[in-house]
Amino acid sequence: MAIAGKNLPMEDHRAASFQFIPSGGVPPVVEKAEGCTLYFDGGREVIDAGGGAVAVNIGHGRTEVAAAVAHATQRVSYVVPPWVTEERIALVETLRERWLPPELSQVALVSGGSESVDSAIRLAISHHTSAGRPERWKVIGRETSYHGTTMTTLAVGGHRSRRSGFDHILTDFPKMPVADAEGLEKVIESEDPDTIAAVIAEPVIGAAAGAVLPPDDWWTDVREICDAHGILLIADEVMTGFGRTGRKFGIDHWGVVPDIMVGGKGLSGGYAPLGGVFASEKVVAPIAEADSGMMFFTFSAHSAACAAGVAALKILEDEDLVSASATKGAEFLALLSPLGEHPHVSDVRGLGLMIGIELVEDKELGRPYSPTTGMAGQVVGEALRRGVWVYPAGDGNAPDALLVGPPFTITTAEMETTVKVVGEAISAVCGD
Ligand SMILES: Cc1ncc(COP(=O)(O)O)c(C=O)c1O
Repeated sequence: MAIAGKNLPMEDHRAASFQFIPSGGVPPVVEKAEGCTLYFDGGREVIDAGGGAVAVNIGHGRTEVAAAVAHATQRVSYVVPPWVTEERIALVETLRERWLPPELSQVALVSGGSESVDSAIRLAISHHTSAGRPERWKVIGRETSYHGTTMTTLAVGGHRSRRSGFDHILTDFPKMPVADAEGLEKVIESEDPDTIAAVIAEPVIGAAAGAVLPPDDWWTDVREICDAHGILLIADEVMTGFGRTGRKFGIDHWGVVPDIMVGGKGLSGGYAPLGGVFASEKVVAPIAEADSGMMFFTFSAHSAACAAGVAALKILEDEDLVSASATKGAEFLALLSPLGEHPHVSDVRGLGLMIGIELVEDKELGRPYSPTTGMAGQVVGEALRRGVWVYPAGDGNAPDALLVGPPFTITTAEMETTVKVVGEAISAVCGD
């Protein structure tokens, strides 16, 4: 691996020293990235079919984004989040005018997905507390879900392996079944509706399951149930947002507008740590009336990150990449579908360029691998050795899935190579 500008190899001991908790081995060293390609180890090419952590949507190496970040940094390195800079305003205006449903006019900017969900939970609780309902503090999450890795987002999520070791100190937020809206109604009744602040869900379940879609009526039913009980509805669009599923937001597929929506990942195309909380006036009004506020994080709405966001959203629009995600997603799903014939693949599914491949030990019995085998991780490692990056996913009853979530600029040739390599990696690890 050459060190940028010096053409010297990156010694293994330097690369290994990057690890906080050493886990053996040397982490991949990435020299540069361009389009859909990562350049490893002095030039070895890897297709970024996972878009990193399903974050890279406009492709790597966009000089316009780099220039916007540099320009913003030269103008103002840092000022406290409540103050205004041109980049902050430009991002809020872009989001309001061109991306968000008109109902979600209130925008707060943070530095990533966990921060955005954590803030949305604080916002929902604060909404009720400010309106004189402090007893409404519970946020219902789904039994299988992932909303981030702060203590509160772990608590609201249903990702058993990521919660492991912390369960005993996590807030006991109630959980609803994944796909049964009546089940939500039952949870609300048994908890007492007057204690529930909000319900949170991913439009398409990502990290915890590998692109699992809800039943057709699920979102409209959940919206109705929340309305009937005065409960706020939060859509976690961290993975699904900004075109990933072929619409601006995942929930758009079901024609539902939540009270609060959160984004991250694709909001900056992966070029900067950026997340957003988008809420209706109804949600923030009681907080404003009570003269309360929301404490910021030091790096909330960082100008350079906002500049990256504006530039990335412009590219998504100028190049019609949300539609590209829909059409290329359909093409990629069709190409990947034959992998469903593999004796250890139980399902290939998805929406837009968010596609999941579920692995099982026994397909006839529908029996998953034991979670201790870490099968998805092994397949991901094997695919990476063969030149393709996909993102490991899965938990609980479906512990092993692969997430395919490439940049929306991926070519047919890159899709075909991905299909071939992933198929070979599954056979090499799981057997035929
Ligand atoms: C739906 C969802 N919410 C929240 C998060 C957490 O985001 P971050 O890793 O940026 O903190 C993720 C990350 O994968 C996610 O997929």
